[in-house]
Amino acid sequence: MIFLNFILKITLICLLIIVTGLVFGEDTRHPNKKSVLLVIDVQNCFIEEGSLAVSGGRSLVPFINHLLLEYRPYFEEVIFTKDYHPRDHVSFASQHFNKSAFQKIKIKYDENEQTLWPDHCIENTQDSEFPSDLNFDANKDVVFKKATNKDIDSYSVFMDNGHISKTNLDEMLKSKQIKKIFMVGIATDYCVKNSAIDAKDLGNLLF
Ligand SMILES: *[C@@H]1O[C@H](CO)[C@@H](O)[C@H](O)[C@H]1NC(C)=O
Ligand SMILES: [Zn+2]
Repeated sequence: MIFLNFILKITLICLLIIVTGLVFGEDTRHPNKKSVLLVIDVQNCFIEEGSLAVSGGRSLVPFINHLLLEYRPYFEEVIFTKDYHPRDHVSFASQHFNKSAFQKIKIKYDENEQTLWPDHCIENTQDSEFPSDLNFDANKDVVFKKATNKDIDSYSVFMDNGHISKTNLDEMLKSKQIKKIFMVGIATDYCVKNSAIDAKDLGNLLF
C-alpha cells in the first residue's frame, strides 16, 4: 500500500507527464519476491536533449531513483528496458523516401500504420544509454533491449507492434514464476501503455 501511495504521489507530481501503467488487481498490492519492477525506456533519447525527448522526462529520474532506493529489495528483480534500434530502423523517417517524422506509413510487418520518428535510441550510442544519474545497478539489475529488429517497431516490451513475435521477457518472467509486474517509465502513451496491455494479455497480474 505504501508503494502504491508512492506511485500515486509521483503521478500527481509529474502531472500530465509520464509514469505508471498501473492497473489494479486483486491480492496484495505490495511488491514481493514474486514481482518485478519494469523500468521502461528511461534513456537519454527520451529525456530532455535526447533525440526523441519527452518533456519532463528528466524530472522522473530522481523519482525513479527514490523508488529504487526504497523498494529494490522487495522485488525479485528490477528490469530496465531499452528502446534500442539499429541505425536503419524502419521507424525512422530518415529511412523512407520523402517522409518526415510523425507521418504515418504502412510497413510490411505491421497491420497498423507505423508512425515515423526522428532517428532515436540508436544502438551503441550515448543517446540510447541510461541517464548517468539513474540508479541502475549493473551488478543486480537486468537490461532488456527491445525493437532491435530493423524491420519492425516494438512499443511494448513483450511483443513487436505487429504481434508477430514475442520477446523472451514473458518466458523469462514465467520461468521465474513472476506473478506481478509493476511498471514505471517514459512515454505512457506508447511504451508503458502497450507493455501493460500485452502483459495483461499474456496473463500476468499487473499493477
Ligand atoms: C513528397 O511529399 C509531398 C507531401 O506528401 C508530396 O506533395 C510530393 O509530391 C512528394 N514528392 C515526391 C518527389 O514524391
Ligand atoms: Zn523507438
